[in-house]
Amino acid sequence: MILVTGGCGFIGANFVLDWINIVKEPVIVLDKLTYAGNINNLDSLRHSPELIFIKGDINDPPLVESILTQHRPRAMLNFAAESHVDRSIRKPDDFIHTNINGTFCLLENARQYWQHLSGNEKEAFRFLQVSTDEVYGSLTAQDPAFSETTPYHPKNPYSASKAAADHLVSAFHHTYGMPTLITNCSNNYGPYQFPEKLIPLLILNALQNKPLFIYGDGLQIRDWLYVKDHCEGIRKVLADSPIGETFNIGGNFEKTNLEVVHTVCNILDQLKPAKHSYKTLITHIEDRPGHDRRYAIDSKKIQTKLNWQPTETFESGIRKTIQWYLDNLAWFDTLKNNNHYQNWINSHYKESAT
Ligand code: NAD
Ligand code: DAU
Repeated sequence: MILVTGGCGFIGANFVLDWINIVKEPVIVLDKLTYAGNINNLDSLRHSPELIFIKGDINDPPLVESILTQHRPRAMLNFAAESHVDRSIRKPDDFIHTNINGTFCLLENARQYWQHLSGNEKEAFRFLQVSTDEVYGSLTAQDPAFSETTPYHPKNPYSASKAAADHLVSAFHHTYGMPTLITNCSNNYGPYQFPEKLIPLLILNALQNKPLFIYGDGLQIRDWLYVKDHCEGIRKVLADSPIGETFNIGGNFEKTNLEVVHTVCNILDQLKPAKHSYKTLITHIEDRPGHDRRYAIDSKKIQTKLNWQPTETFESGIRKTIQWYLDNLAWFDTLKNNNHYQNWINSHYKESAT
């Protein structure tokens, strides 16, 4: 079996659902169930003998040790993180606790566990760190896309904490020979994404006739990847990569935030027409401090070495995503009515509004 941390979050849950469906191998999920973790994301596996769920913190050494000793996973995949840039700007503390110290705790326990394995078990063991393209910093319009050799230059507390974690993972490979892998991915979208991130927040706000907040001029660029394509990339890296390698994973769909919001509005205008186009809700507000201008991913390495390609275009993936949220309004409603979520939205956008 494998151990997946953060398996109740957006990407982790998609990964676990696809893993059990496609690979059919048991999974232990270790998740603290922070505001972003939602056990309902794994509802379809509630009675599955293939899922073992453990509520807990990755930064709890005795707990991590006991899980490894008891279940003896053949791989650990670390998705657990504080993941929202805006929250990291307002209050970085939890980002240090989970993203840096938590990753260190997993690595230390993995090292003890792996060193005591032998034979095939030791040979096969892997520690895979799920990371982000934000560690590379920000590009100008003319810069080439991030490759695996682009120097790290993180610019906000979230990306700095992820960069620190990546450095620890690399150091454990170089120092102890640990069989680690790192994936650096671009912006994901798809089912089960917590509606504090751009795309689900736009959909949810549009459906409630609320403003669609765009930071600054909205000309910042992100590379968008459908979450299930990201999960397939991770499966390929885990299965086929030599140890110690890093892979960038991206959709090759660079879009400005204005292009994203217009696309979301156009599709909603078709699927759920309202009195006026949803575009009338677009509202520019103060920019994010230190806002990275452009991310772009060069994913040639994973394409050529591991034969991975995204299956969705931005147009097909975003349509599927919007349809999923429309079909799962009950999932949305539970989050929408949650006090913690409302407090974040009210305080963040009240303070940001100009
Ligand atoms: P998310 O915020 O939706 O989910 C994070 C999950 O981790 C939640 O289930 C949460 O409960 C859990 N968690 C948080 N702190 C924990 C702790 N101390 N112990 C145990 N569990 C804890 O995040 P996501 O968007 O699914 O991102 C998953 C991973 O992918 C993160 O490492 C993130 O940095 C990385 N990533 C995300 C994106 C993206 O676009 N969302 C892109 C590239 C990389
Ligand atoms: O690039 C990968 C990263 O993508 C991941 O590592 C992060 O975990 C993930 O959150 C994401 O970071 P971003 O900051 O790019 O994502 P977010 O959805 O917060 O914002 C996308 C863009 O939209 C960004 O330029 C900020 C802008 N934005 C965001 C929000 C929430 C707005 O204009 N308005 C908003 O309300």
